[in-house]
Amino acid sequence: MKVKTREEYARLVEEAKKHDALYYVEAKPLISDYEYDRLIKSIEGIEKEHPEWILTTSPTQAVSSDIQSGFKQVEHVRPMLSLMNTYSEEELSDFVKRMEKILGETGFAFMAELKIDGIALSLRYEKGKFVRAVTRGDGKKGDDVTENVRTIKTLPHELKGEQIPDVLELRGEVFMPLAVFYQLNKEKEEAGEDVYANPRNAAAGSLKLLDPNQTRQRSLAVIIYDVVDSELSCQSEIATYLKQFGLPVFSEGQSSLCKNVSEILSFAKQVEEKRGSFLFEIDGIVVKFDELAKRDEIGFTGKSPKWAVAYKFAPEQAITKIENITVQVGRTGVLTPVAELKPVKLAGSTISRATLHNQDEIDRKDIRIGDTVIIEKGGDVIPKVVLVDFTKRLIDSVKWSMPLNCPSCHEKTIHIEGEVAVRCVNPLCGAKNLKKITFFAAKDAMDIDHLGEKVIEKLVNKGFVKTISDIYELTPEKLGQIEGFKEKSVKNVLESIEKSKETTLARFIFALGIKHIGEIAAEAIADTVLDLDGFLALTEEKLLAIEGIGKIVSESVMQFLSQKESVEEIHRLIKLGVKPKGRNKIDHPFSGKTFVLTGTLKQFGRSEAAELIKERGGKVSNSVGPGTDYLIVGEEAGSKLEKAKKLGITILDELEFFNSVSKSI
Ligand code: IVH
Repeated sequence: MKVKTREEYARLVEEAKKHDALYYVEAKPLISDYEYDRLIKSIEGIEKEHPEWILTTSPTQAVSSDIQSGFKQVEHVRPMLSLMNTYSEEELSDFVKRMEKILGETGFAFMAELKIDGIALSLRYEKGKFVRAVTRGDGKKGDDVTENVRTIKTLPHELKGEQIPDVLELRGEVFMPLAVFYQLNKEKEEAGEDVYANPRNAAAGSLKLLDPNQTRQRSLAVIIYDVVDSELSCQSEIATYLKQFGLPVFSEGQSSLCKNVSEILSFAKQVEEKRGSFLFEIDGIVVKFDELAKRDEIGFTGKSPKWAVAYKFAPEQAITKIENITVQVGRTGVLTPVAELKPVKLAGSTISRATLHNQDEIDRKDIRIGDTVIIEKGGDVIPKVVLVDFTKRLIDSVKWSMPLNCPSCHEKTIHIEGEVAVRCVNPLCGAKNLKKITFFAAKDAMDIDHLGEKVIEKLVNKGFVKTISDIYELTPEKLGQIEGFKEKSVKNVLESIEKSKETTLARFIFALGIKHIGEIAAEAIADTVLDLDGFLALTEEKLLAIEGIGKIVSESVMQFLSQKESVEEIHRLIKLGVKPKGRNKIDHPFSGKTFVLTGTLKQFGRSEAAELIKERGGKVSNSVGPGTDYLIVGEEAGSKLEKAKKLGITILDELEFFNSVSKSI
């Protein structure tokens, strides 16, 4: 096949990724496996001719592509289950009682282990060699992350010791050691990038990087806690068994064989006291029925086994003082109050800020400057204020209320009826603008790497970037003036900016940061308008006809489109080379042509063939007429064929149709 441009190649890769997502994520494939394979083959062909074009996201690459994660999906030998959570002594003893009831006996042992807050992983060794690692995924199949897991230093590529089984299928937890996590976030913050909310997200993100060399730098670690189908009789033998092969397992004090609820609780207590001293984040303990043979008898409920539970710890808390309350301005102008705290250690890190959400929250908890408060860290790094210790309240303390003016531009703020939030509505507000530009460049929007809030702030301060389109007018000279920017960072940023010009219409619409337009709404709009002109010509009526779009959203879009500055900004972006591509705007010979199908097609079902035509921008009609461009004939075609011949319409048999379909979509 002839592909002339790099853009066309990129589009094919996008297309393959789209089908991957339809297949894997939504389980709604639009094309046959056969056609999908043809698409991959064409991509491979181009890559052979133009190796310099190869995209890391290409489905042909070793660590390859599916839209969600970029990895091949692999079915698990045994489903990977989740655990039921318990939070109290009572729930824990109910768990033990349930088992006594099922088995009709009492007095059995449980293995209690740390519950690492990481990512579950299935690992496979064949003849002692590490061959595969797969994430939990949906429990039945997960992402093949073998190459990334291979970078984990503590995981042997080859097992040592004797009597290594032919196949060793393991389960464990991948995590980011806390020290690595803090360092990584520090670096991200310095680079002006978004930080990871918690070590689990950081581990998940690092495990799904498309380049294993990058994963290697993240220094992930793993602990194995289970063997699938082993000859062992008890959970408590697993660690010793695996350790002899050189596999990383829980060490002394990280697990305990318990005879009853009180022993489990005492282990839990010990662990909770030491919680901050582990190298990784834990969120509780896991209690497992020790005797493996009886587990099947005990059975399963829904997605979890009845023979194991998680006993979760309450979030960690600390006491500190609110030194000040400041106000942040978000992208849509929402003002968020933030507590500036006297720095305090919490869950291994030093906390100096906590979000206070909004005025209602502050009023409800009666939070004031100078108050002594209990803060708590839930699943996220950003802690929250749980309550005020009123006994410590200062006599001269006063109620706090939101400023009437925006802290950034000093314009009057407004409180929209029915909303909790207070907003700054000044379109020229500096803080809002900074957030807006940052949002535009972010990963799920225009995906401009190396252009986080800190960097953008510097560019704004220098006067190089005032609006989003200024990003595309950045030059090596301008970037070179940014503190901390060396030749390499300049090159990286410019490359990312260039790359971002090829984007989808949906991403582009999302990136504009229109109030109420999330990724899903942006996609729905893009699918309806087909191209940018269609977007600019939107009417309220058209918007309301889109599924999932109601009055509020459509009003917001219309308001955006009625602003002269918004439209001018879009035109500037296009002039500077941004090319948002609509999904259905396909440069294909079928585009705009009308097709009629007749006879029995062997390769495709009628609806499948119709779908393929529509996907390529063609229309399908039932009857042959002067407006028909092509007639596709299967076996036993009847009168339609005769009529088409008479009208001189191009006739394609199934093979010809197939060949055209596979042509440069
Ligand atoms: S056993 C059905 N053991 O917790 C068996 N899981 O909430 C479930 N986890 O998906 C796994 N530490 O990601 C087990 N010592 C441990 C664990 C552990 C952490 C995670 C694992 C699992 C989740 C269930």
